[in-house]
Amino acid sequence: MRLLFLGDIVGRSGRNAVIERLPGLRERWSLDCVVINGENSAGGFGINEAICDEILNAGADAVTLGNHSWDQRETLVFIERQPRLLRPVNYPPGTPGRGANLIDTRSGHRVLVINVMGRLYMDPLDDPFAAVDREVEACPLAQVADAIIVDVHAEATSEKEAMGHHLDGRASLVVGTHTHVPTADHRVLQGGTAYMTDAGMCGDYDSVLGMQKDESIRRFLQKTPGPRMEPATGEGTLSGIAVETDDRTGLAVRVAAVRLGPHLEETWPRFWG
Ligand SMILES: [Fe+2]
Ligand SMILES: [Fe+2]
Repeated sequence: MRLLFLGDIVGRSGRNAVIERLPGLRERWSLDCVVINGENSAGGFGINEAICDEILNAGADAVTLGNHSWDQRETLVFIERQPRLLRPVNYPPGTPGRGANLIDTRSGHRVLVINVMGRLYMDPLDDPFAAVDREVEACPLAQVADAIIVDVHAEATSEKEAMGHHLDGRASLVVGTHTHVPTADHRVLQGGTAYMTDAGMCGDYDSVLGMQKDESIRRFLQKTPGPRMEPATGEGTLSGIAVETDDRTGLAVRVAAVRLGPHLEETWPRFWG
């Protein structure tokens, strides 16, 4: 299978980059499954139903969230009727929506998508390792799921690497989100799981993490309240990881970073032509 994961969409710049480029990429690379983190897609803060539909219509099979899941209050309601939208699985019991789902892709495959949030330097949630274990054991790779994609939304690189190795051999891809800057460590781990510490963001990199530079800098210089943070508005760059899996095992055989747009050195999976 051919999988594409893209990091946090930030604001209109990120949305437009996805909407303009994803349909062509799906076609050109014959993608079987696309998962995108959308936690900052609505003005930098959360997601709403119209934007979620827009991302799915552009060619995503599932959309993941993170610490910004509930910034738009309507998400608490519409997530219940959108099985392709996932919030972190380790929220307390009773939280609306779901954190994992077996998604039927357009290509006729079944992909288990899990969104989980780290606990280091973040809101303390339930144990992320135990939470993903439960989901993967209920829906094992190659037996129930054709592929398993885990979005680890976390601040600490140690926690993300630990999760990658913890799931090595049991997931097709473990990829980090939240820090909005792509790391250069994409690889296939010993047991066959593709891994990348952070997928980067889809947005305007002429910014601080996708938000306008001036207010971000001011908050470091002056510790006083100021205007609301707004997303940067320039052209967006796509950032993420492409993975090819073995049809029999569901494990990764090849990975490549994806960076397409005006800001970062461009790269793409050359093995897909
Ligand atoms: Fe984010
Ligand atoms: Fe985040």
